[in-house]
Amino acid sequence: MTRTRLYTASFVALAVGIALALWLKGSSFYMTHPWDRSLLPEYDALRSGGSWGFAEGIVGTALILLNLTFMLRRRLKAMRRFGALRLWMNMHVVTGLVGPLIVVYHTAFYPRTTVALTAFVSLGVLVLTGVIGRFIYAMIPHTVAGAEMGMDELERRLVDARGHLEAKAGADDPLWPKLDQLSRQPLITPRSSFGSLLLLPYTIVSTLWLRIRLYLLGRSRRDVDWHDVQDIVLIRRRLHTLKLYRQLLRWWRALHRIFALVMVVTLTIHVVVLMYLGYVPGVGA
Ligand code: HEM
Repeated sequence: MTRTRLYTASFVALAVGIALALWLKGSSFYMTHPWDRSLLPEYDALRSGGSWGFAEGIVGTALILLNLTFMLRRRLKAMRRFGALRLWMNMHVVTGLVGPLIVVYHTAFYPRTTVALTAFVSLGVLVLTGVIGRFIYAMIPHTVAGAEMGMDELERRLVDARGHLEAKAGADDPLWPKLDQLSRQPLITPRSSFGSLLLLPYTIVSTLWLRIRLYLLGRSRRDVDWHDVQDIVLIRRRLHTLKLYRQLLRWWRALHRIFALVMVVTLTIHVVVLMYLGYVPGVGA
């Protein structure tokens, strides 16, 4: 397992662990109707302003702030020495899911004030766009370090993979017509960025199906390097859609940034209002 995969697996295990632990701690409280919760012994700890609920608000917000450092890693040259972009992307996704998840527990599944509700909804919209964006991002091949590959890089890799395979299997191996057939354009090819957005679910499912077929084909031909075979088929197909998905990712990124800004502003208002009201954790409603 590569180091990036190991970190990612640890991030995911941590996220699932936190979600489960929080649920186990307060499930009976969260399952009780909000109007009846004040009668429960856990009320003082688990309500949004309680000792535990308030700490969840702080930790969730801290993770969201950590999540935003991804922007610095993407933009500042000085940050490059702090790890590969791919690892930061994984950190961004995990903190972008776990931070809001802890915030959900902080609201005790019941945001009461308009500002809290607005901050909560904008966070939900942001996470949803993030998940969609992650799929668009996956449509663009990235280097191991996490940088986007351009057309030239892809074509170069295709030539390399073809060269390797030809050296191993020869030019008239029956594998070639199979690869030609598998790498033909998808049945439906988007013609505009908007079309590529609409066709995203189709493209994801058909690529998944293709990977399964390639895997099965791979098991029957252990004499060749399977990375070359995969590269030949997947790169050929991606060459058709690369330009559109890169454009779509640019537009989507701008939208995701706007949602992030709205969320940060509403979250800040939520915190400032509480400070202005002289809120002290554990005291009051
Ligand atoms: C607290 C929640 C989140 C915040 C505040 C946030 C914020 C941001 C910001 C500001 C950017 C733009 C970075 C730049 O332009 O330099 C970005 C990019 C991105 N985010 Fe998020 N995000 C959040 C959650 C998520 C989630 C949950 C996912 C996926 C599941 C996600 C996926 C992405 C992707 C794929 C990019 C584009 C990366 C690239 O093009 O290199 N985000 N995010």
